[in-house]
Amino acid sequence: MINVLFVCLGNICRSPTAHGVFEHLVQSRGLAEVIHVESAGTGNWHVGHAPDERSMAVALKRGIDLSHLRAEHVNRQTAFKRFHYVLAMDKQNLLDLQTMVAKDYAGELALFLSYDEQSLVQEVPDPYYGEGDGFELVLDLIESASQKLLDHILKHHLQTIQT
Ligand code: 4NP
Repeated sequence: MINVLFVCLGNICRSPTAHGVFEHLVQSRGLAEVIHVESAGTGNWHVGHAPDERSMAVALKRGIDLSHLRAEHVNRQTAFKRFHYVLAMDKQNLLDLQTMVAKDYAGELALFLSYDEQSLVQEVPDPYYGEGDGFELVLDLIESASQKLLDHILKHHLQTIQT
């Protein structure tokens, strides 16, 4: 099993969107038994909350239901033990995660968009305080990077799996 953790600040906008989009992709490729997906926030204000209504609405328009997800706080004791991939939405999330990771971590701690070499931006911008368009952009960036991340995982870890 390959375990993937998406991380943002609040775990109500960007990382639950990545969680839902990537999990949907994994399921559609018949890989739910081999790739496990979770998400969490570096902040704990929203723990237990459902994703932001705006994130849920934009995802649902694209056929992805986020309503079952509930915000979690990154567990600094277990995150780098349980997850092969810990993927930050922005550089501040990455800096925060770098303070938690052991030097001998053998997995990949990276910006999520770094897997998408065609992306024009390195970070998924925080849409929380912005206009509605920000949520569409979040979906666009995440959908594209999810395809690339799955290709990467298949190439590096799951060469024997037929897809
Ligand atoms: P997220 O967005 O990190 O994409 O979930 C945010 C959600 C809530 C807050 C900030 C960012 N907040 O400050 O409450």
